[in-house]
Amino acid sequence: MCGIVGYVGNRSAQDVVIEGLRRMEYRGYDSAGIALVHADALAVDKRAGKLANLEKAIDETPLPSATTGIGHTRWATHGAPNDRNAHPHLGEQRRVGVVHNGIIENFAELRAGLEAEGHDLLSETDTEVTAHLLEREVLAGADLTTAMQNVCRVLEGAFTLVAVDAADPERVVAARRNSPLVVGLGEGENFLGSDVAAFIEFTRDALELDQDQVVTITREGVSVSGFDGTPAEGRPYHVDWDLSAAEKDGHDWFMRKEIFEQPRAVADSLLGRRGRNGLLQLDEMRLSDQELRDIDKIIIIAAGTSFYAGMVAKYAIEHWCRIPVEVELSSEFRYRDPILDYSTLVVAISQSGETADTLQAIRHARTQRSKVLAICNTNGSTIPRESDAVIYTHAGPEIGVASTKGYTTQLVACYLLALYLAQVKGTRYGDEIAQIMAQLEQIPAAITEVLERADEVYALAEEYRTSSSFIFLGRHAGFPVALEGALKLKELAYLHAEGFAAGELKHGPIALIDDGLPVFCIVPPQGRDQLHDKMLSGIQEVRARGARTLCLAEEGDARIEPYADHVVRLPRVPVLLQPLVSVIPLQLFSCELATRLGHDVDQPRNLAKSVTVE
Ligand code: M6R
Repeated sequence: MCGIVGYVGNRSAQDVVIEGLRRMEYRGYDSAGIALVHADALAVDKRAGKLANLEKAIDETPLPSATTGIGHTRWATHGAPNDRNAHPHLGEQRRVGVVHNGIIENFAELRAGLEAEGHDLLSETDTEVTAHLLEREVLAGADLTTAMQNVCRVLEGAFTLVAVDAADPERVVAARRNSPLVVGLGEGENFLGSDVAAFIEFTRDALELDQDQVVTITREGVSVSGFDGTPAEGRPYHVDWDLSAAEKDGHDWFMRKEIFEQPRAVADSLLGRRGRNGLLQLDEMRLSDQELRDIDKIIIIAAGTSFYAGMVAKYAIEHWCRIPVEVELSSEFRYRDPILDYSTLVVAISQSGETADTLQAIRHARTQRSKVLAICNTNGSTIPRESDAVIYTHAGPEIGVASTKGYTTQLVACYLLALYLAQVKGTRYGDEIAQIMAQLEQIPAAITEVLERADEVYALAEEYRTSSSFIFLGRHAGFPVALEGALKLKELAYLHAEGFAAGELKHGPIALIDDGLPVFCIVPPQGRDQLHDKMLSGIQEVRARGARTLCLAEEGDARIEPYADHVVRLPRVPVLLQPLVSVIPLQLFSCELATRLGHDVDQPRNLAKSVTVE
């Protein structure tokens, strides 16, 4: 939800900010804007639409050169996505400029107060009030850091703010509450960003901030304080991926690149998990074996694709550990008064680590004395920081809005958690755990095999290019994969797509089946009692009613052939691990279909990568 960049140093601030915005654009692309500090004034340009519109405007009417600047890409919350509501917003005298991510909940009241004082606010945004409030403070004599501390104390809601003062050109000041912000540490220059991708080209040394902190960057250094002015310190860390990880590497879309990175991402997520003694080890588990043994219920909370990873985790944890698992949408969790206590483990799954619904849900869980374990891909993000334990997924940066390697590595982390619990609770023998680990270690090669058949899937995308509706069917661990396949198609191709548990079809959804309707069928491996047979019956039922069946089935499964219009072959893997391979053709299909339909695959309409508002 909105990408933010700030810079002070010796380089062209315009170049640094625009480059940072390019990498932040996945967070929102309703508008983009920049403010540069030049000759005691702010030079501002901001445009509705993608960053390209801003770049074109700057090409036509260049901004003055400057070495201090801020920038923003917007995912609109308050006010339509037009030029006027684009950030940066300025104070009345155009002395202070602000960019913002989040929602200022008491903005209406603050705005009324400013208007009563005679301020004229130009936009419909909640952000503009902060520019006026900050400017009022600096005009009264405060420096920008003190002004930020004072203003943040009256703001309610979630926000990252980054501000510049034209009269203080060597300083950029930012603040955060429940919204992401990291500092990039350079030599004679410093950076701010919603995440490290904003400045990864220039430095891999970063500083993580806590909630309710203000940070000031100058060329010489960085200082941190609380909103009350108490000095504080950020936590330095080194980013373990580089610029090439944030580039497209010859692919047309980040999404396609990320699909093809999955063998490596899955392998990396498995690295270093087995100790010398053969036992599983999870480095940042931070929960003692006794605490884990005391767990009698697990609640998994997540949103979107991460929620579907959680659904797969339920099958694995219940089967291997015999602990009851509930899986719940994080946006629903807190509002139903869930029953939790110290013996409930809450597992929060989030690629970004910043999803507001999930963050609020874990906070609620902790007030109920439950332990929270985060499964997350983003080092330094809020959800793992506020959790008791974490399993990082090591997928590398995921830039495409549609989650791909984020999902498969979340699955790996879920399997690892399940196996670790089984080890600690003794519900599986060590050799069984070692056998499943060995099977997991074969998965990168299995994913590679599926990827080698990408052209078959692309041909299907061409064949079904004009279809306006798709159904996805699965059973058991294939059911969440069906839901994920449908979500991918909705978000990328903007088509009607629904995922169902195949057994549920006859209870209503079968009425949707019409002549020629494409139905993806995720066929379970044959080794599992009854599951395969039941799936075959479901496929026959839809085919008998005119559906075109696109079956994902394992090598050697000949029984599927009479009922399949197309078969995409999957390598043989155990039933519980099949989601790791069966999701791949579905990712390829939606990426390719959306491309052929002329959509922007990396930045689908109305979406943002990281949803930091509830
Ligand atoms: O960062 P998170 O995993 O918490 O994000 C959750 C969802 O917003 C995310 O998975 C979303 O559904 C993706 N766009 C799906 O591709």
